[in-house]
Amino acid sequence: MLSVLAIGGSLRRDSFNRRVLQAAPALALPALQISVYDDLASVTLFSEDLEVPRAPAAVERLRHAVASADGVVIATPEYNQSLPGVVKNMIDWLSRGEPVAVEDKPVGILGVTPGAWGTRIAQSQLRHALTACGAIVMPMPQLYLRSAAELFDADGQLIDARTRDSLAAFLAAFAAWVHKVRGTAIQGRSA
Ligand SMILES: Cc1cc2nc3c(=O)[nH]c(=O)nc-3n(C[C@H](O)[C@H](O)[C@H](O)COP(=O)(O)O)c2cc1C
Repeated sequence: MLSVLAIGGSLRRDSFNRRVLQAAPALALPALQISVYDDLASVTLFSEDLEVPRAPAAVERLRHAVASADGVVIATPEYNQSLPGVVKNMIDWLSRGEPVAVEDKPVGILGVTPGAWGTRIAQSQLRHALTACGAIVMPMPQLYLRSAAELFDADGQLIDARTRDSLAAFLAAFAAWVHKVRGTAIQGRSA
C-alpha cells in the first residue's frame, strides 16, 4: 500500500483542481491510498521570522502530512502565466525545516484550467521550484487539463471520459514512480 497526499493549489470553494483530485481515489490502483489535503488556507504567508522558535502549527501539520506520505500529487491552477502565490508559499514552507519534508519525495504535478493551455507555464514553474528543494518530480506523463467547465457535471463530478482515463494513467504511472524512487517494485508489474 502506498499513501499519497493530494494537494490542490487553490483555496476557491468550487476549485476545479480540487475536484480533479477528489476524483482520483476512485480512479487509482487499489494499492494507492489517496487523501486530499484540505487545510492549505491555514498556512500563513512565509516569513523567516515565523520559523523560530518553531513554525506555525498549520505549517507543521502540512510538513508532517507531506513527510509521512509515500508520495505527493499537486494539482495547480495557473495565475497570470505563473503558479499561484498559495502554491509558491506552500513550497517555500516545505523547503525549510529539519528535515526538509519534500527532499527526496516523489511528486507528481498536474493542473486544470478553464483556458486553452492546460496550466503549462504554472506546472513548469512548479516543477522548477520543487526540484530546487530536492523533490523528485515525475517527468512523464504530464497532465495538462483544459476547458475545465466541460469536464465536470453540475455536482462537480469529473465526468469527461478522456480526462478520467488520463488521470487513471497518470496515477498508475505515479505509483510506479514512487516505487522507482524508493527502489522497490510493484507486485506483478515491472516498475
Ligand atoms: C488572478 C488570476 C489569473 C489567472 N491567470 C490565468 C492564466 O494565466 N492561465 C490560465 O489558464 N488561467 C488563468 N486564470 C483562470 C484560472 O485558471 C481559473 O480561475 C481556475 O478556475 C483556477 O483554478 P481553480 O478552479 O482550481 O480555482 C486566472 C485566474 C485568476 C483569478
